[in-house]
Amino acid sequence: MFFDHLQSAGYVCAHRGARALAPENTMLAAELGLVHGADFWEMDVQRTADGELVVFHDDDLGRTTDVSARHEFCERAPWPLRLFSLEELRSLDAGTWFAESDPYGTIARGEVRPADLGRMRGQRIPSLEKVLAFTRRNDFPMNLEIKDLEYAPGDLSIVSQVLRRIREAKAEDLILVSSFNHDYLAEMHRLAPEIPLAALVEGDHPENIERHLADLGAVGYHPDEAILDEDMVRRLTGAGIHVSPYTVNDMDRALSLIEAGCFGIITDFTHTLRKRL
Ligand code: G3P
Ligand code: CA
Repeated sequence: MFFDHLQSAGYVCAHRGARALAPENTMLAAELGLVHGADFWEMDVQRTADGELVVFHDDDLGRTTDVSARHEFCERAPWPLRLFSLEELRSLDAGTWFAESDPYGTIARGEVRPADLGRMRGQRIPSLEKVLAFTRRNDFPMNLEIKDLEYAPGDLSIVSQVLRRIREAKAEDLILVSSFNHDYLAEMHRLAPEIPLAALVEGDHPENIERHLADLGAVGYHPDEAILDEDMVRRLTGAGIHVSPYTVNDMDRALSLIEAGCFGIITDFTHTLRKRL
């Protein structure tokens, strides 16, 4: 299982791939996560208009694709992904925005290799099948976040759809599933108790975290780092829970959380944290 690929604690998780070095949730970001020494990587899954599964973070296509410059899509603003087919999504450029905006300043600082910069233009929104094949081929453990499809409350069908792709890729042993929608987690546990789960939390901790995770069948806890302190890490780690906060980009803070017992650190700066460990 996922945890068998990782033997101790203090792991580097490449958030949306190596997000500070490449356009998030693209195959280039996944590759650079591996190249720069991430122990596992995180990505986001959601569903297209024609029922396919793709890797993409935002509800809307505007921020990280060229959709706004494509005249055939101009009347569909603000471009919710759920209303686009897989074929339409595949036609979008999901990489040039990064090369043009340098969102982390890593291009200006010379941290992005010229060869990688040259590959950004034309990066596509990957299908879930494609990233599962990548993770399988490279034995690169993956935190698969199922995005909360808030437009379809009570609909748990994405869970079985994700599970089918994981099984078809024979990647069960490499996957940790997380979600802010804890009903998805309970459904995944019902369908596939062998797949480890982590509860994503923002805002407030559940009242009794240990009980809540046990009820879900979750072994991991992935809180927003803003609500996490070192005492909480010690308490949960002592109870056998794998704590991996997101998104920790301050390296001193990351080291302090690891020292307190965090299992993993979900960071945009894989390359920087790896050097500090
Ligand atoms: O999985 C941790 C983190 O990715 C959750 O937040 O919004 O970046 O998907 P978000
Ligand atoms: Ca995510």
